[in-house]
Amino acid sequence: MKGLILSGGKGTRLRPITHTGAKQLVPLANKPIIFYVIEDLVAAGIDEIGIVVGDTGEQIRQAVGDGSRWGVRFTFVEQSRPGGLAHAVKESRPFLGDDRFILCLADNVTQGGVNDLVREFRDGTMNCSIVLTEVKDPSAFGVAVLEGDRVVRLVEKPRESISNLALVGIYLFDGTVWPAIEALKPSFRGELEITDAIQYLVQHGHDVRPHIHRGWWLDTGKKDDVIEANRILLDLIDPKIEGDIDDASSITGRVAIGAGARIIRSVIRGPAAIGERAHIENAYIGPFSSVSEDCQIVNAEIEHSIVMRGSRIVGIEGRIESSLIGRNAEIAVAPSLPQAHRFTLGDHSRVELRG
Ligand code: G1P
Repeated sequence: MKGLILSGGKGTRLRPITHTGAKQLVPLANKPIIFYVIEDLVAAGIDEIGIVVGDTGEQIRQAVGDGSRWGVRFTFVEQSRPGGLAHAVKESRPFLGDDRFILCLADNVTQGGVNDLVREFRDGTMNCSIVLTEVKDPSAFGVAVLEGDRVVRLVEKPRESISNLALVGIYLFDGTVWPAIEALKPSFRGELEITDAIQYLVQHGHDVRPHIHRGWWLDTGKKDDVIEANRILLDLIDPKIEGDIDDASSITGRVAIGAGARIIRSVIRGPAAIGERAHIENAYIGPFSSVSEDCQIVNAEIEHSIVMRGSRIVGIEGRIESSLIGRNAEIAVAPSLPQAHRFTLGDHSRVELRG
């Protein structure tokens, strides 16, 4: 069985981070989101993995490599345009052939991985299996209506409430999906929807099985979702201390500190992750914070936040929290009079000052 990871999405809801970086590479507990998806597939015994990329393809390739670090082989598929999930699958046909495959979105992580699903599907006779979970607002997703153990109807972004079971973005298919994809017409949002392809399978009497997921599901579309996903994944990190910590610092709870990091006169309260070569001085790093490699946090307090590679936070009064800070960003005190707030912000940046 093969795996296909869709990593072409633009991530407009995560601007400005996604103006310059792929959303699938945003770090959660200091590891790019897509790595979690790859690791789930590898753990399920999938060793041929296709990765569909778009405009940010070069960054994705650079970050994930050829698969050898996980002992698997990656095949990259360049999607010719952002034409929807089913369009991405269609363009991956040369890689997938007629094999059974699991399709995953590169920005979704589910508790417990996909081992059971893959085993069931590999050994079973069903044509398609979809993962569903209960959500409060189904209008943002594709949903499925069930009758017992059967899927009877699927709708993408439903306007009426027909079901609260959302498609979580993990699908398993056999070769019956190809005629379904061929028959698709663009949806209301101009995309070829995988949801519609599955609806076609249902209508044509194929065996489509639901799998209800009950643990956490991290769909990292917006900033708050990313911070929440970071919170959940930090709770699971392996504590390790590879950097230097001076005697005046205190580290409590589940904390991972990378090699070459220096912690000076600081308090780190886990769960937290500090990347390689980070410099933390006279600072408080509170629970659910991830500070990536080469960051500097000096005379500042931060909690429940993600600070990406190479950023500096220096001399800030008042705690920073629930923040997502991109790469090589700087938050510092204005060096001269007049005392004022001064900003150099990229497009779609957002600043919320303490009232
Ligand atoms: C896509 C799918 C939708 C699914 C969702 C899960 O939506 O079209 O059916 O519920 O992923 O994240 P999109 O992210 O394209 O709006």
